[in-house]
Amino acid sequence: MTALTLSTAAVPGLRADAIVVGVAKGGKGPVVAPGAEAVDQAYDGKLADVLGTLGASGAEGEVTKLPAPAGFKAPVVVAVGLGALPNKDETFGAESLRRAAGVAARTLAGAKKAAFALPIEDAADAGAIAEGALLGAYSFDAYKEIGKNAKNGKAPLGEVALLGGKPRDAAFKAAVARATAVCEELNRARDLINTPPNDLNPEAFAAGAQAAAEEHGMQVEVLDVEALEEGGYGGILGVGAGSAAGPRLVKLTYTHEAATKHLAYVGKGITYDSGGISLKPAGHNETMKCDMSGAAAVFAAVVAAARLGLEVNVTGWLALAENMPSGSATRPGDVLRMYSGKTVEVLNTDAEGRLVLADALWAASAEQPDAIVDVATLTGAMVLALGSRTYGIMANDDAFRSAVHEAAEEAGEAAWPMPLPDHLKKGMESPTADIANMGERAGGGLVAGLFLREFVGEGITWAHLDIAGPAFNEGGPFGYTPKGGTGTAVRTLVRLAELTAAGDLG
Ligand code: BES
Ligand code: MN
Ligand code: ZN
Repeated sequence: MTALTLSTAAVPGLRADAIVVGVAKGGKGPVVAPGAEAVDQAYDGKLADVLGTLGASGAEGEVTKLPAPAGFKAPVVVAVGLGALPNKDETFGAESLRRAAGVAARTLAGAKKAAFALPIEDAADAGAIAEGALLGAYSFDAYKEIGKNAKNGKAPLGEVALLGGKPRDAAFKAAVARATAVCEELNRARDLINTPPNDLNPEAFAAGAQAAAEEHGMQVEVLDVEALEEGGYGGILGVGAGSAAGPRLVKLTYTHEAATKHLAYVGKGITYDSGGISLKPAGHNETMKCDMSGAAAVFAAVVAAARLGLEVNVTGWLALAENMPSGSATRPGDVLRMYSGKTVEVLNTDAEGRLVLADALWAASAEQPDAIVDVATLTGAMVLALGSRTYGIMANDDAFRSAVHEAAEEAGEAAWPMPLPDHLKKGMESPTADIANMGERAGGGLVAGLFLREFVGEGITWAHLDIAGPAFNEGGPFGYTPKGGTGTAVRTLVRLAELTAAGDLG
């Protein structure tokens, strides 16, 4: 991954492939953002004019490249838009810094080193810019053979020096170290999501979790098909029944000796969702390798919590299965006996996520954690409701739902609260079993949430994040978000763990 350092080097003599500066949208044209004073001076204080002449406005996402001034060792100056100039006495928001840094890092793919002269007021700003740079530089080319060793191949930007930070200040060092740990794990989650489903089946995913547990001194337990049968995990087994690659339930445990709180994170890990016997039509299955994004986010967040040494216990549950049609697959009409003992009539085998999550939620509940948060690419309905960049938050506790929403906002992840209207439960009544895995079409995302709620232990605080929209970016890259797997929810989960460790949550 891109290396990141805090630097106090003077700009003119700095050896780098590019110097990045920020430009904001002012009332009368582009305004050079703080942090780039030395660069502006080298243009005789006319950098804003030069940028204006080149057509720059300072809008978010905008990139303007210009030759560096005489006397600079670096050949190019890259100006990235920061969006609207903040009001007097206000500074640039963390998300606008993240996005600008992300755009710069992506633009500079192929370069060895860049110096970022972006506005930094405090350690938090440095952390935001670090996050944007590390996430924006990401690319997935594990499967690209052509041009792999070409001289001008676009390898991710090699190194970023953050100018204007304080390299010897503990808060700045901590902010950069935190960003590095979180973003390395988040990028690993993106790798898992982008890995084709013929290479990432439940067994392979579980092996990855085992390796990470070993590396970071965590406990890990993998239930294979035999253990799942023994334990009575009918939901996970039912979903995995059609695949030649059997399902797994992974329990990854991070503990801190001084912790007083315990969080359980539960992730949907369908390594490929064909729909099963209720097969998805062409046009709806090409991106369904992303259906393990929830499990990838949980995995990344637990490892990040361990790397950060947070004073909280975090258990990650990865419910892994491949949803395939075959002679051994679960049929629409089958009844599954779930781990909780409840029976479920499977009316649609494409509503499989709630089945694997139900078993994992019940398993997580048995440990009586202080809260459970599940993460899942659960419903197309949530994509229709909130679009492709915002995830939905449902919960059995209003205050907890708000706390999760706040954590998401602090982390820079777009989310929105959604209700769990009781009347929608009626649609899931089954003539045969305790409940059906489908209900009314209208409000399908909420119906799925209501189904999950049935499998949360009595009295346990729970939230459900439906990330079906933002988990996988089918459009072009933007800000620090690449095409493909995004790693959505990792930063929310890490933030929640931090808040819990600090005693600021529940
Ligand atoms: N994995 C899908 C949901 C999904 C859709 C994720 C689009 C990402 C992008 C899920 O398993 C599914 O198929 N849900 C069905 C449920 C329905 C059959 C009740 C859906 O949303 O159509
Ligand atoms: Mn499905
Ligand atoms: Zn699915």
